[in-house]
Amino acid sequence: MKIDVLLGLQWGDEGKGKIVDVLTPRYDIIARFQGGPNAGHTLEIGGDRHVLHTIPSGIFHADKINVIGNGVIADPFILHNEILALKAKGVQPKINLRISKRAHLILPTHRLLDAAYESAMGKGKIGSTLKGIGPCYTDKTARFGIRFGDILSSDFNKKYNALKDRHLRILENYDFDISKQEIDKMPVAEYEKKWFEAVESLKEYELIDSELFINHALAEGKRILAEGAQGSLLDVDFGSYPYVTSSNTITAGVCSGLGVPPTAIGKVYGVFKAYCTRVGSGPFPTELNDETGELLRQNGNEFGSTTGRPRRCGWLDLPALSYAVMLNGVTDLVMMKADVMNDFEKVKVCTAYKIDGMENPELTFETLSGDVKPVYRSFEGWQTSLKGLTNFGVLPAKLSEYIRFIERSVNLPIDILSAGPGREQTIMR
Ligand code: IMP
Repeated sequence: MKIDVLLGLQWGDEGKGKIVDVLTPRYDIIARFQGGPNAGHTLEIGGDRHVLHTIPSGIFHADKINVIGNGVIADPFILHNEILALKAKGVQPKINLRISKRAHLILPTHRLLDAAYESAMGKGKIGSTLKGIGPCYTDKTARFGIRFGDILSSDFNKKYNALKDRHLRILENYDFDISKQEIDKMPVAEYEKKWFEAVESLKEYELIDSELFINHALAEGKRILAEGAQGSLLDVDFGSYPYVTSSNTITAGVCSGLGVPPTAIGKVYGVFKAYCTRVGSGPFPTELNDETGELLRQNGNEFGSTTGRPRRCGWLDLPALSYAVMLNGVTDLVMMKADVMNDFEKVKVCTAYKIDGMENPELTFETLSGDVKPVYRSFEGWQTSLKGLTNFGVLPAKLSEYIRFIERSVNLPIDILSAGPGREQTIMR
């Protein structure tokens, strides 16, 4: 069997959680391969809204195994709270959650470092979610990190204290008074105590060699979906660096984040919104700082599910979408939230960037880091509700025209169209 992949083609928040949930019945195992609690995957089930940060979006299906892969980094306190929130809804993660022993731990001091680095950058700050993502991946690469497998060892506290001391020494170089800091609205010492309690409770969960588990499952013919977090334009190599996250969010990240060979990759579902959003700082060529941008934000409820921050909104960026399709080897396109623009008289898409007076239809180093002007093509809005539509054949003609233009531009058909948060508001080709 091959492992299918589902990931975001923009700056995150494309609505991946909903599509994973819709596709889960087709799979036996759902596995997260990168990122950490900077993610917020929102699922709406029976009118009830639920946000997952670390746990894969298949957790609501009791008969599906959900794996937190080696490429993920996890904060035990946040993970433990996610588990409690699921239990309150009758879900029993103990039955179907597995955690890689190789996944790295986010320490309380990783979060302090994140805050110290961001505040020292002033106006140039990344706009991080402040969950400790950058500092934790830095320690992983620098070979100082602590992994889930370590929580079972007798020298866990020694390892913890050595890394914590290292962090405190770094923090001494910053204008950063630790005694005045809070993490998740708690004094640092209280957070640390709860963090250790969470570590203790997580020992009851199945910690596994996830690369063996996944490869054995493939050999046994099990169907696996790898669930991405963030989006391709936040990838540490190909995103709008340095305004990116610290992991490989693209298909390549599946190989290193789950331990599977490239030849094992099957379908790649690429999820994008019918417009664009981004949270945090960094270039966003099609951003709309006007009432249309505000309308997208309000209609689309574009507020961060992890931080509550208002998302920046703008028109669909086709050079960026084509770039993401190329990097990921997308086989199946999924378009989300066209319904957000149901009332719009005009809908625009960016077809190229103007830089130094020249038009460039491709995303390059310069167009992603420089001061570019988008070149737009305008479409008439469909100005009708998409409620109750169940197949592509009955879509409003103007929406079909918009879809066809996107498909021609990226050279791929759109296979799934989502027109609302519920599972039933999903149209399959
Ligand atoms: P970090 O990964 O928390 O360090 O954040 C780095 C950048 O990625 C910031 O601009 C964040 O707003 C953005 N980011 C991180 N995770 C997500 C996500 O899940 N959705 C959207 N943006 C994200």
